[in-house]
Amino acid sequence: MSQVNYDKEYKRSIKDPENFWMEQADNINWFQKPTRALTQDENGFYRWFKGGKLNTSFLALDAHIEDGRGEQIALIYDSPVTQKVEKYTYNQLRDQVSRLAGGMKRLGVEKGDTVIIYMPMIPQAVVSMLACARLGAIHSVVFGGFAPHELAIRIDDAKPKIIITATSGIEFDRIIPYKPMVDEAIREATHSPEHVIVYNRRLGAIRPDSDKDIDYATLMKIADPARCTEVDATDPLYILYTSGTTGKPKGIIRDNGGHAVALYYSMKYIYGIHPREVFWAASDVGWVVGHSYIVYAPLIYGCPTVLFEGKPVKTPDASTFWRVISDHDVRVMFTAPTAIRAIKKEDPNGNFIKQFDMSGLKYLFLAGERCDVSTLEWAQENLNVPVIDHWWQTETGWPIVANMMGNEEHFTVKPGSATKPVNGYNVQILRQDGTQANPNEEGYVAIKLPLPPGTLPNLWGDTERFRMGYMKMFDGYYFSGDGGFIDEDGYVFITGRVDDIINVAGHRLSTAEMEEVVAKHPAVAECCVVGIDDDMKGQVPLAITVLKAGADMESFQLQTEVVNDVRKEIGPVAALRRVLVAQRLPKTRSGKILRKIIRAIADGKEYNMPSTIDDPEILAEITTLFEEEKIGVYGK
Ligand code: COA
Ligand code: AMP
Repeated sequence: MSQVNYDKEYKRSIKDPENFWMEQADNINWFQKPTRALTQDENGFYRWFKGGKLNTSFLALDAHIEDGRGEQIALIYDSPVTQKVEKYTYNQLRDQVSRLAGGMKRLGVEKGDTVIIYMPMIPQAVVSMLACARLGAIHSVVFGGFAPHELAIRIDDAKPKIIITATSGIEFDRIIPYKPMVDEAIREATHSPEHVIVYNRRLGAIRPDSDKDIDYATLMKIADPARCTEVDATDPLYILYTSGTTGKPKGIIRDNGGHAVALYYSMKYIYGIHPREVFWAASDVGWVVGHSYIVYAPLIYGCPTVLFEGKPVKTPDASTFWRVISDHDVRVMFTAPTAIRAIKKEDPNGNFIKQFDMSGLKYLFLAGERCDVSTLEWAQENLNVPVIDHWWQTETGWPIVANMMGNEEHFTVKPGSATKPVNGYNVQILRQDGTQANPNEEGYVAIKLPLPPGTLPNLWGDTERFRMGYMKMFDGYYFSGDGGFIDEDGYVFITGRVDDIINVAGHRLSTAEMEEVVAKHPAVAECCVVGIDDDMKGQVPLAITVLKAGADMESFQLQTEVVNDVRKEIGPVAALRRVLVAQRLPKTRSGKILRKIIRAIADGKEYNMPSTIDDPEILAEITTLFEEEKIGVYGK
């Protein structure tokens, strides 16, 4: 592995992105190499490697087979919930992928068609993603913790030709019936997919047949393997819906060419791993971490990847991560801080760790939410390897700020900081008026354009939202939605979202979306949902309601009903558990609810009384309510 000096390379990547990324593009097995790195599209947005031709499924599988690595392991499926371990070579995975792609072709799926994948963490989910990529079809994986209503919203937005699902998933010891949820979503959606391919897991869950259903195994038997379809670098590989600041999720588009170049680069220089070493991202294919670091990056770079169907705890216990690392000789692991907190709670002294040989582990990477100091220190002390907090988003698809382990020079970790901007990302802290903040001054975290390859070029079907949400706030910059500061040594500290997005157990959720559901309850006159600090999940949502005049309802009954509504409309992953009844909500004179102050009260943090507040007395009422209900700091 060639090693590089951070400062020199970083400056070069910012000053001369064209040549910097053209050099990196050489690592990819193009069908036709691009002649230019950076261009602008008809909307004036930057695009990478236009004119380059490739196929992402080819890079992930066939390219390694052509290199003589067909019999090496590509995918390790480790499922403590079904007590199964299966290993797939590149040959085996390619055979399954090309066959499913052939089956989809038979069903009429072509380049540019969209396909929704709603599946648990089973190899068939990875096969489905790669089969879409093989055909040049655009997949949209929907996380299994979302309810049918959320799936229906995505069906109507992505308008899939087909949906691929499985009969069931497993959460700890519960069977989650996926297929009935797909049926319900299709009934609710306006758009109707032509077919639903159903992988039957034979876990005993009922499988209601509809005339749209095609059995996955039968299709695989009758299908002819499909070859890779050539796509343009700028053609979309996938859409991944993520929470925004309104109730409607936004479809992040990922292209093929920039994505492949960026992910390859990240494996080498950020994660510091060598091809053939085992990489494990303990996430879910429904999230961006799963897309990038369970599926595409390890496979493109040539690392066996672990697909883990389990939880950090209770499957069967808090030793499961360490068992997987030891059994499969994992060299680099990636998870969310919340997973480490869950383990730490069950095994505070790290006794389970001592039972396994984890000498092969080089680094643990953490992301998805702010990494608190005690979690970082616990992992450092108990695992005895560098623990790397790194910051990124669904939008970027790969890390923005990190301690780059593939570089010659590694920086001393400053707890609370994800370290320095990754090559290609010109990270700046801006004030509201767009001027640059001083070192240590908190402001809005923005990235000067162009963003590097692999980052979102647009939103699916909503260019205006892309422009307004990301590009409008600061001219010439991408606005991340996060607040933070850069210290005198150039370390970036992310302090949290400045919008209505919260991170619950590493899951990105919109409080605005939850508010829409809460507000629909017949007894609720108005409400707000805020994310408050939580020792385990980082943040949890809290709803505060004001009841309609004359509404006669016990607060416990209201809570039960609203929690059920949110589970039904958004899904269990929304994790709304507490619903309070207040006499009124704190607002500005113009009627804006002071959510930030409500959050500060719950978290026991200081806040400035805004001059625009309508009635300061309400803050005392809210504080008393939190004390009585033992919310946030008052519950400790
Ligand atoms: N399918 C169906 N339901 C799901 C689901 C899925 N894929 N994922 C989560 N849920 C459900 C859970 O079962 C739970 O349901 P319940 O309220 O009926 O118990 C609910 O959604 C909330 O889940 P979660 O917030 O994850 O809490 P938990 O107590 O079940 O688990 C952790 C806590 C810490 C173990 C778990 O959140 C975890 O492993 N976090 C790591 C997250 C992660 O890797 N994120 C990716 C970013 S890197
Ligand atoms: P997602 O799009 O689900 O990956 O969530 C992205 C958001 O998670 C970011 O905008 C941050 O608010 C938060 N986040 C992710 N990683 C980190 C990190 N290392 N430190 C602080 N916040 C993080």
